[in-house]
Amino acid sequence: MRILDGKETSQALRNEIADEVVKFKEKGNRPPHLAAVLVGNNGASITYVNAKIKACEEVGFSSSLVRLSDTISQAELLHEIDKLNNDPAIDGFIVQLPLPDQISEKKVIMAVNPKKDVDGFHPQNLGRMALNMHAFVPATPAGIIELLDRYNIETGGKHCVVLGRSHIVGLPMSILMSRNTYPGNATVTICHSHTRNLEDMIRSADILIAAVGRPNFVRGNMVKEGVVVVDVGITRVVDTTKKSGYRLVGDVHFDEVSKKAAFITPVPGGVGPMTIAALLKNTMIGARRRVKP
Ligand code: GUN
Repeated sequence: MRILDGKETSQALRNEIADEVVKFKEKGNRPPHLAAVLVGNNGASITYVNAKIKACEEVGFSSSLVRLSDTISQAELLHEIDKLNNDPAIDGFIVQLPLPDQISEKKVIMAVNPKKDVDGFHPQNLGRMALNMHAFVPATPAGIIELLDRYNIETGGKHCVVLGRSHIVGLPMSILMSRNTYPGNATVTICHSHTRNLEDMIRSADILIAAVGRPNFVRGNMVKEGVVVVDVGITRVVDTTKKSGYRLVGDVHFDEVSKKAAFITPVPGGVGPMTIAALLKNTMIGARRRVKP
């Protein structure tokens, strides 16, 4: 078994981006600028957004954090988005999800200018991605593709089983893995709450991408020998031995499944860091497009 080391791979990608930023600035351009909108005080969201902002600093990007109250109205939030859409100093921005109940995620996603939508959530980007056109690809799937690529994981003709059909991970991941390119050309099955014989499906996977948000859902007896496992789960589970009071648990029972897997991502240190690196890569692409549209 080999670990698909997201921490190390993300660092390599971030070093490459940092080198690009230096060259970009040498040509007289201002550094790429990512903005993040954070509504409310969701603990996990605060952690993720802070990690994204810190990563910007490390590669030489500018960044800004727009913090808004969880009582903000939808109209006010849409106004903030419009300001970012029209701000020439910002190359890309994200609105961290989830959002409070009074706000429609769909309306927010639709309000972001697709050219600044570095999360790749706008239908224009998802549609373009599906059609193999230039597009911002959502950061988590983009990060997973980068990880498979850098470890030269064979994907052509393999059976890739994606657990979960979320718009952020499962759905785009299934499209990417079936595209006529590398990584891709896999035969893809998406499993969800209505899937019959789920365990048989999982057992038939050559590549398993688990994104259901259920800690330790995939057990050792459900997978076949030699499977490549990508664990997208990051559920916070109470753990009083930790300073933070919790630990992160993946969708895959690592100890059991790693005994049978050829490759596996750990949690933490797998998909999470790759997501952040992919977001930086998207922002770099956005900044380059600004200079040369
Ligand atoms: N919430 C969970 N994952 C993400 C993500 O990739 N982007 C945003 N904006 N919110 C999220």
